[in-house]
Order: sequence, then C-alpha cells, then structure tokens
Amino acid sequence: MARLITDLSSCLDSLTKAVFSQPIDSTDYSKISVRAVTIRGQAGFQLEQLRDNKAFHRNVTPEELLKLVQQELEGRYRQVLLVTPEQSSQYCLKVNGSYKKSVSAGIAMPAASRSHNREKSYILKEGENIPALVDLGVFTPDMKIVRAKYDKYKQINRFIELVDQAFRDYKKDEICILDFGCGKSYLTFILYYYFSVKRGLKATIIGYDLKADVVERYGKIAEKYGYTGLEFVHADVSRDVLTDRKIDMIVTLHACDTATDYALHYAITKGADFIFSVPCCQHEINAGIHKGGDLDLLLHHGIIQERLSALLTDSIRAAVLEDMGYQVDMIEFIDFDHSPKNLMIRARRGGKKSTAGRSEAQRLAERYGFTQKLLELCGEME
Ligand SMILES: C[S@@+](CC[C@H](N)C(=O)[O-])C[C@H]1O[C@@H](n2cnc3c(N)ncnc32)[C@H](O)[C@@H]1O
Repeated sequence: MARLITDLSSCLDSLTKAVFSQPIDSTDYSKISVRAVTIRGQAGFQLEQLRDNKAFHRNVTPEELLKLVQQELEGRYRQVLLVTPEQSSQYCLKVNGSYKKSVSAGIAMPAASRSHNREKSYILKEGENIPALVDLGVFTPDMKIVRAKYDKYKQINRFIELVDQAFRDYKKDEICILDFGCGKSYLTFILYYYFSVKRGLKATIIGYDLKADVVERYGKIAEKYGYTGLEFVHADVSRDVLTDRKIDMIVTLHACDTATDYALHYAITKGADFIFSVPCCQHEINAGIHKGGDLDLLLHHGIIQERLSALLTDSIRAAVLEDMGYQVDMIEFIDFDHSPKNLMIRARRGGKKSTAGRSEAQRLAERYGFTQKLLELCGEME
C-alpha cells in the first residue's frame, strides 16, 4: 500500500485535520480541507471542497474518508497535510508518483502533559464556565474542549493572551471594539467574555460580516446570554458606513484579503488606539505583481511569488501604519505547524507620523506593477 494511505489508515482515529492542495488537474477541486467532527455522536470528518471560490461541504465517516483518498485523491494533489495532536506530516508528490514525506512535531503534546500545560498557561481554561463556547461548538456541555475545535481554542486563547498583555494596565472602565469579518465569531464572543465578564468593563463589541445568516445566528446567542454590549451587524466593510462611536480597538482574525486593509484604514481614520490583526488570503499583490527589478529571482516560481506577495502585503501594511503614527510589531501569532496564517500585526497608536514607508511602498508598487489596498486608501486621505 502507498505510504500516504498506510499513514492515513494508521492515524485515522487521531486525525484532526488534513489538507489536499495543488491539484494536478485544474478541473479538480483546488483544495480539499478535512476536519474531524462529531456527527450524531459518531466521530467523522467534514470535507470543505473549493472550486471557483465556492466551498462545498460534505460529511464522511472515517472509512469513507480512507476510501476517498485511496480511490480519488492520492496522486492527484501535489501537497497533502495530515495533522494529529502528536505531529504534522507533509507529503509532496514526486515526479515518479510517490510522495516525499516530512514530519514536524505536533501542536499538542501527549494527553497527560497537554492538560497540565493548558491549565498552566491558558487564560481561558478548559472547564471554565463559558456557556457561549458550548453554543459555538468549542466546548462540550461539561466545558471540555471539543477535539475537532482544539485548533480554534488554541487560536482564540493566544489572541486573548496577546490582548491581555496589552490591556493589563488599561485604566478606563469602558471599551469599544470592532471585529471585521467576524465569521463564526469565536473571537468576538471571547473578547466580550474577557472584557465584560472577566475584567468587568462596560464593553461594546461589534462584529461585522458579509454573511447575513451568520450575523443573525450569533446575535441570537449573544441575546441568549444577556450579552447586551455584543452586537453583530450585516455589512460589507469595504463599502458600508459602519459606526460613529469612538473606537478603542480594531481586531481581525483571518478576514479575507483586502477586508483586513479596510479594517486597518478604519482604525487609522477613527484613531483607534489598538489594532490586533491576523491577515489571511493576501491575494491582491500576487494578482498584479510582475518582474521589474532586483526581486525578479523571487518571482520565478508561483509558490514563492505567492509567499513573497503575502509578506510584501503585510510589510506594506506595517509601513503604512507606522507612517500613520502607530507603533507596530509583527509577531508570530501561532506555530506555523498549527496554521500557516500565523502573522499578527499588533499596533498601538502613538508614534511619529511620516511618509517614508508609503513612498517606498509606492515605488515598489509602480516598479513591480501591483496595487495594495491600504496604501491606496491612505493615499486617498491626502
Ligand atoms: C475566514 S473567515 C474568518 C472568520 C472569523 N474571524 C474566524 O477567525 O473564525 C473570514 C470572514 O470575513 C468575512 N468577510 C470577508 N470580506 C468581508 C467584507 N468585505 N465585509 C464583511 N465581512 C467580510 C467573510 O464573510 C468571513 O466570514
């Protein structure tokens, strides 16, 4: 049996996530993400299959997943990732049709030490009474972490840890936060829980999202728990008029592509004191960039160009924020193994204004033929 199938078969019980990407045939799904779920009390997997920017979901049993990989996916995708709590295994398809495997240590440690570690360092502890997390599917009714949501739990904990560091000396008794592209709203709820329930502040938190059903569902959960300061608003952040309140902080967690730029721009125009932004899907520069100078060597292979474009996007965002009077740190949000979307732009208002960063970014944009939304939006402000 081929290595990928043998490995999948032996880790099926503990598999938390798998990703099949870079199809050989462009008519196949461009990416298939698999995550462990519990379906009517039975362990299973949910598949998210992407084609033409549309996502198709279906649930399968572990046996069906193995059969699907064996019969349809193996050898058709250049990159495969299998993740268990113990390790991440990356498979790259070689020209002879077999997979080359590389392994890195997992995001979690063996069960015994894992629970000890969580207790010690996490701000939101397993077992803590956060009933909204049960509605969101992160905790079971007895406040245990749902296995398939461990990644999410770890992400929001890390986010709160970083927020906690920044707000330890916060003296005001009110705070207003906007979450751009709140989606399933784990972060939005947790921020509310942290500021309102744990810290006792009068918190107003507004989550914006394009999806009306999402906004309605999470609004109802907020209502159920009497979270009166937590609102969900259906809006396109690139177009709609948002709020006229005084904003203290803007957050984004994986807001798609330029939605992050609109959030950062909003923070600048509203003079928000704090920004915590974890970008993803930085497609804009990649779509326009072409060869034009000293960076040409990095534009020779698609995958390098894509990564360079993402790094350039976030570097320009940081430079623009600095020009606009923010002190910016770029920090690793979460281990790369756990999620490749692992950079956070953390910014605090209070630096000297300048135009140097924007001029340099503009020069690169002209030379390499790309556009960058935050650069453009801040250019329009002048
Ligand atoms: C990848 S999800 C992340 C959701 C959530 N922050 C999380 O981490 O679970 C990105 C979300 O951004 C929303 N989004 C993308 N563009 C948007 C826009 N222009 N205005 C409002 N929401 C947007 C999408 O609908 C989606 O729910």
